[in-house]
Order: sequence, then structure tokens, then C-alpha cells
Amino acid sequence: MNIEKNRIEKVEFYEPVSLNNRDFKRLSEFIMSQYGIKMPPDKKTMLQSRLQKRLKKLNYTSFRDYIDFVFSPQGQNEELTKMVDAISTNKTDFFREKIHFDYLYSQGIDDYLEKTGKSKISIWSAGCSSGEEPYTIAIALNEYNHHKRVIDFQILATDISSGVLENAMIGIYHEDKVAMFSEYLRKKYLLRGKDTYKHKVRIVTELRNKINFQRFNLVSQGYSGLGMFDIIFCRNVMIYFEREVQYRLLKQFTQCLNPEGYLFLGHSESITGYTLPLKQIKPTIFRKI
Ligand SMILES: C[S@@+](CC[C@H](N)C(=O)[O-])C[C@H]1O[C@@H](n2cnc3c(N)ncnc32)[C@H](O)[C@@H]1O
Repeated sequence: MNIEKNRIEKVEFYEPVSLNNRDFKRLSEFIMSQYGIKMPPDKKTMLQSRLQKRLKKLNYTSFRDYIDFVFSPQGQNEELTKMVDAISTNKTDFFREKIHFDYLYSQGIDDYLEKTGKSKISIWSAGCSSGEEPYTIAIALNEYNHHKRVIDFQILATDISSGVLENAMIGIYHEDKVAMFSEYLRKKYLLRGKDTYKHKVRIVTELRNKINFQRFNLVSQGYSGLGMFDIIFCRNVMIYFEREVQYRLLKQFTQCLNPEGYLFLGHSESITGYTLPLKQIKPTIFRKI
């Protein structure tokens, strides 16, 4: 009995701070305008729970004070990126929607090189999360190099969340994340960890050097400084945006995509209803015309 009582007294109980409608409105309008992320009323509980840790860390007992701080010049410098890290949905995987990588390897690159006469390819992984997507692209292109034709390629990988970008740059993953790698891919592209890294793997340097990771806000930054691309992946990102934001982004993607270049979208994203210089090749694969 006493043991149980002592145990309970030592546990730190934390009463969640609740987010009222007024504060939710302030925050959701800000998130929508700055990052394009839709925040309808049914997301209130999710937002409230995702931000609890931030309030606790900064010792705020009300959302009103926390939001005032986020909007202040000091908060913009110190807290904004952490708030974005907390609210963004970063789910991703290696070889997610594998059909895209298979298409590039088996036909997409051949067709593109034939049509353009190029031997150098520039790729953008927009909304790359913790790096699984750009590393998978790099593997597909490296395999193309080894088995089909030698091409030079470089990948730009961007995300709004600096937390996921840090992990992406380091390129260390739990072994569960690479369970789908064949023995051949494992030997070629993964380094096994030991001691504290026992159940971890690291992407080989050769592949890591192919990717330039950069923080970039797709909604409120200009795209012209990024250069032109032959292939753009923006998968499972626009699904969180309002339609007009999606359309603006798609127009900007097509402006920085070279003729005949490819745009890859996520499985539940489409360009239906938008006027764009894109031809559909497969359900989520488009070519610039
Ligand atoms: C669900 S993940 C998708 C990752 C990867 N593309 C995939 O399909 O596996 C969505 C990513 O988009 C990023 N994101 C959300 N809003 C963004 C914005 N305004 N600018 C740039 N990245 C954004 C999030 O931080 C998150 O890492």
C-alpha cells in the first residue's frame, strides 16, 4: 500500500491546457496563412494535444499567452520553428508508393533522356520529411546508373520542419524503417550501427552526398531562387492544403519544371479541375508539356 502511494506521489501529473475557440481561430488562421496547412474546427483537439509539450516546456498555462509569445518578435525567432515541428504531420517511409520509383527506373528516365538529350538530372523532393523519400530517389537513380546508363544527378530536398530535416541530414534510421530493403540494397546503401547504434543503420556517404537538404516554406517563399528541375516529387504534402493554395503551388512547380520533366504527387492528390501545362502519364505521375 505504502509502496503504491509513494510511487503515485513521485509521478508528475500534468493537466492538459485547453484551447478555446477564440485562441484556436487565431492560431489556425495564422498556420493557414503562413504554411497553407488546413485547420478546420475538427482539428482543434489535434492542435491542442500536439502543442501541449511546447506549453509545458515554456511553462505557459494558457494558450492565449503562448500564442501572444509566438506572434511576438522574440517568439518568431525562438519558437515558431519549434511550433511548426510540433504541428506538422511527418509520416513517411522508404519506397513509399513504390510504383513511382519503379516507373523512373524502368521507363521514365529513359524517355526523358531520349526526348531531351540530357545526361544530367536535377530533382526536387518538396516536403521531404525525415529523408526517406529523397534517399529512395537517390537509390533508384544510383541503380539506374549501375545497371542502365550513366547519368549525373543531384537532389534538393526541402521541408518546413527543421526537426525532421536534422534527422534527414544525419541519415540514421531504426532498422525497422528499412525492413523492406532487399539484402542487395542493404549491403550497398546501409551501414550497420554498433554499441549505442546497435539497432540503427546509416545511409552510405555516397548517397548522402547526392542530396542537399534545405528548409523551405512552399507556401510563403518564392521558388525562383531554387533553380529549374527535371523531376519534382511533392507527395502527401498538398493534401493538407486548401484548394487555392494547392493550385498556386502546382503553378509554381510547373514554372520551375523543365519541358518534358515529371511531377510526382501522392496517391490521394490530383490536378483535376486545375488548368496546368501537365499531361497525366499514370494516376499520380505527370509530364510537363
Ligand atoms: C506527410 S509528410 C510527406 C513526406 C514525403 N513527401 C512522403 O510522401 O512520404 C508531409 C511533409 O510536408 C511538410 N510540409 C507541410 N507544410 C509545408 C510547407 N508549407 N512547406 C514545406 N513543407 C511543408 C511537413 O513538414 C511534412 O514533413
